[in-house]
Parts: sequence; structure tokens; C-alpha cells
Amino acid sequence: MNLHSDSTLHSAECVSASSVDFLTDVISGLSQQSKSLPCKYLYDQRGSQLFDQICELDEYYLTRTESAIMQDNSAEIAASIGSEAVVVELGSGSSTKTRILLDSLKEPLAYLPVDISEEHLLAAAEGLRIDYPDLRIEPVVADFTHSFQIPSRYTGCNVHAFFPGSTIGNLTEAEAIELLSGCAHLQKHATGSCSPGMLIGFDLVKDPKVLEAAYNDREGISAQFSLNLLTRMNRELDADFDVAAFKHVAEFNSVDSRIEIYIESLRDQCVSIADQEIEFQLGERILTEYSHKYTPESFVQLAAKAGFRLKQLWTDDRQYFAVADLVAE
Ligand code: TRP
Repeated sequence: MNLHSDSTLHSAECVSASSVDFLTDVISGLSQQSKSLPCKYLYDQRGSQLFDQICELDEYYLTRTESAIMQDNSAEIAASIGSEAVVVELGSGSSTKTRILLDSLKEPLAYLPVDISEEHLLAAAEGLRIDYPDLRIEPVVADFTHSFQIPSRYTGCNVHAFFPGSTIGNLTEAEAIELLSGCAHLQKHATGSCSPGMLIGFDLVKDPKVLEAAYNDREGISAQFSLNLLTRMNRELDADFDVAAFKHVAEFNSVDSRIEIYIESLRDQCVSIADQEIEFQLGERILTEYSHKYTPESFVQLAAKAGFRLKQLWTDDRQYFAVADLVAE
């Protein structure tokens, strides 16, 4: 899923435009006092493959726990959402979870995947059209982290956003509130009495050992995923990172209730990227991602800041993950 890109070009220009963006973002991120890189760059072709492998790991409970929660509570979830829903999915990935939802809903009216990538949208739509011939499938090309619109014909309908995968946790609080507010106001001009709803998955606070293992597994797939960003910069930006001179770090910050993912330099070194030189000190880190963990209470507080109240919440036996149904007030 492409979270932060704001380019909507899909022609040959797109390639050069996005590599210029990549270089600009890398140089600006690595020139700061505290180095950082946007997490979206973790997902090149190799990165996406590695992330799929992460989702299969014993330690990475998130994906399978969310699917199980949805499966085990599908009847209640469907009842909470109601009939003739217009499902607006933020991102066009996760067809497994989309199918669990669509299979349980009563007479869903339409499915609108929203994604910046037209390619992902078309793939998602094609796969579903075959299995859901009666469902209206209407992809929307937009950056869902900023405000987006759905076709006006759905005004007054039972509009329900769907945001699985705990991706909300990868946003800062301000970004999360912006995204949730956008969903709470999806039908600003509606005259109908039906308020928008939102089905959203988020990861719960738990033993830091369990959290840290999920982001730093024994087999080292998480480390490969993280360090692949260096390989990508070497290939695409003519950089000369010595990948063996860096390590992957995933730490739980209990004050801010989040896993923080870094790439740490194992020695003092100087790396060249395009025509720039970037210095690293022994132990210096590049932040690549935050993954916020909530309690049901802290999540309800966040949702309230965006105009949503909790309708129902489902979790698993271990209370590792939660799926919430929210309704706009
Ligand atoms: N979005 C994922 C998450 O928050 C990202 C992720 C999972 C990740 N494992 C990782 C990022 C390992 C870097 C390294 O769960």
C-alpha cells in the first residue's frame, strides 16, 4: 500500500518523477539532525515480498489475528454495519480481509477501494469482480491520507469506511486524526439520516517482548526487510551503503506507546548518495517507521477527536489485536 505519495501520474513520466521524489526525500531525511526516511520506501518489489513473508511469521501475529477476529465475529460485524452498505476501503490491498467482510454483509451495495496507485486498484477490482458479479465495484484514485471524495450518488447511503491492517498505527496522531475525520465526513452533504461508519483494525498494547519479537523475528526477515531500503538506495540512487555495516533495530517506546524501527550504523562511516556525502557515527540511527499500539480506551479517545464514537469492539482471546466499528456523531 502506498501511504504518502502524492503523485497521480501513471505514464512513463511517473518513473522519473518518483525517483526524483525518492532522492529528494532521502537527502532531506538524512540531512536532518535526527535522520529519518519515509516508510513508504520500504515497499519496493523485494520489500513487498519480504513484507508478505513477515505476515506469515509466527512472531508477527498481527495479520492472522485480525483475519481471525473478522472471521469469528463476521455475523456481529455484518449486523453492526447493516444492510446495503457502501464499503469504502482505504488502500486496495488485503483482499483476504475484504472478502471476509463482503461475504458476511447483507446485500452490500458497492465496494469502493481508494488508493493512490491505479495499478493496485485495477488489480483489486479485477480479482473481486469475478467473485462478486452483483456488487458495484468502483475504484477511486486518491490519496486517502488527505481528503478525498466518493461519487455523489452515494449521498444518503449507508457509507462505511474499512481500514484493516493496523495501518492507522503507522501514522502520527495528527495524521491519524486527519484520516479519521475525512472518513467521519465522507457524507458531509448528506440529507439522509444515516451517519458514516468505519470498521478499523488496530494493534493493542501488550508485553514489550511480544511486540519487539514481532518486529525483530528469529529468522531475520524483519531485518532483511528493513535493510533492503539500503540496497534499494544503492540501486536506484547510486548510493554506496555497506549493508553489513548497519543493523535493524525495533524498540518499544512505552512513553509514546509505539514500536520504533531504525537502521543503526555499526561504525563511523561516510556514505555517498548521488553526489552527496552523508556521515554516520557509530550507533547513529535512521528512523524508518513508527507503529503505534493502543488500548481500547486510548483508541476511543483518538477516534473521538475525529468525531467518531465506538459502536462495538471485537478482540481475540489473548487481546493482541482489536477491530472496532465506529460511527460518526
Ligand atoms: N506496517 C507494519 C507494522 O507496523 C510495518 C512493519 C512490520 C515493519 N514489520 C516490520 C517495518 C519490520 C520495518 C521492519 O506492523
